[in-house]
Amino acid sequence: MSILVTGGTGYIGSHTCVELLNAGHEIVILDNLNNSHLEAVRRIERITGKKPVFIQGDIRDTQFIQKVLIDNKSTAVIHFAGLKAVGESCEQPLKYYDYNVNGTLCLLNAMQQAGVKTLVFSSSATVYGDPEKLPIQENSPLKATNPYGRSKLIVEEMLRDLYASDPNWHIAILRYFNPVGAHKSGLIGEDPKGIPNNLMPIVAQVAGGRREKLHIWGNDYPTPDGTGVRDYIHIVDLAIGHLKALEALDSAQCTAFNLGTGQGYSVMEVIHAFEHVSNKKITYEMAPRRSGDIAECYADPHLAKEQLGWEAKHGLREMCEDMWNWQVKNPQGYQ
Ligand SMILES: NC(=O)c1ccc[n+]([C@@H]2O[C@H](COP(=O)([O-])OP(=O)(O)OC[C@H]3O[C@@H](n4cnc5c(N)ncnc54)[C@H](O)[C@@H]3O)[C@@H](O)[C@H]2O)c1
Repeated sequence: MSILVTGGTGYIGSHTCVELLNAGHEIVILDNLNNSHLEAVRRIERITGKKPVFIQGDIRDTQFIQKVLIDNKSTAVIHFAGLKAVGESCEQPLKYYDYNVNGTLCLLNAMQQAGVKTLVFSSSATVYGDPEKLPIQENSPLKATNPYGRSKLIVEEMLRDLYASDPNWHIAILRYFNPVGAHKSGLIGEDPKGIPNNLMPIVAQVAGGRREKLHIWGNDYPTPDGTGVRDYIHIVDLAIGHLKALEALDSAQCTAFNLGTGQGYSVMEVIHAFEHVSNKKITYEMAPRRSGDIAECYADPHLAKEQLGWEAKHGLREMCEDMWNWQVKNPQGYQ
């Protein structure tokens, strides 16, 4: 099976490429390097001992993608390419609809024309908005609260319509909770360009001295310590979830799965766990709540366990250890 991995040099994509290669799959990585580095391809090769094909290109170029699929005899696509910063999506919504919605539309057209109808799509827990009930099940109401979340929701709807029109499609929609950590080797990890948007990379950069302090956005939420609670999931567990989803896609379907641990941790719990692992003091400052942020969010991961045979194995300590190992070995990321 040859798999096209869009966005394969990015954070989740690079870890998934490692798992795919280790499992014996052939892969082609396609990325425009908009938010990643070519060095990730070399690191993937160092970890696996296998050289993946890398093609620099944009998913919005339908004809080009169609040619890539045909030339490489691809049988499936794992689609990570897109933009992911909620704040930026509020400032530049059209850019987000272009990359995430139009980009996916172009990719789907290319796949249809090339006769490739197996897809694993990166969705997000943001499609649940502010959940009415915890833990969140896949059949919970969908109601994104920002352009990024809406771009994911629109694509999900597009995929359901596509499947309804042609049941030869095999589609897994994976709704990630909060991916953190890095590969055990410390060779690949999260290296966002600019200021990180998520908690853990900022915590790691503060511990490593690359950043002075961390802002905690709100300590008056109705949670045990007042700070927001999220379901953090180790990046390697998440990557393996893609492998399991792909392997389960031989029967026709279009199904959404939560990929989370089912366990929520507060911002303060993450900071304390990271301080313990790194033996560093994390300087932080309390700040007002950010608009659009929610108090608590954690998954019910049972569907993925039942249907994909997947469950997260790593706990918070290992997430922090592996994140710290990556930070210490790569203080300036891939550069
Ligand atoms: N990291 C998270 O917290 C998180 C949570 C939920 C969902 N997701 C989704 O998972 C996917 C991967 O996220 P990530 O954290 O690895 O992000 P990332 O930015 O590290 O990776 C995305 C990759 O896509 C590439 N890319 C962007 N636009 C492209 C285009 N038009 N053509 C080709 N390549 C393009 C970027 O260069 C980058 O390498 C995204 O779709 C994101 O929305 C991420």
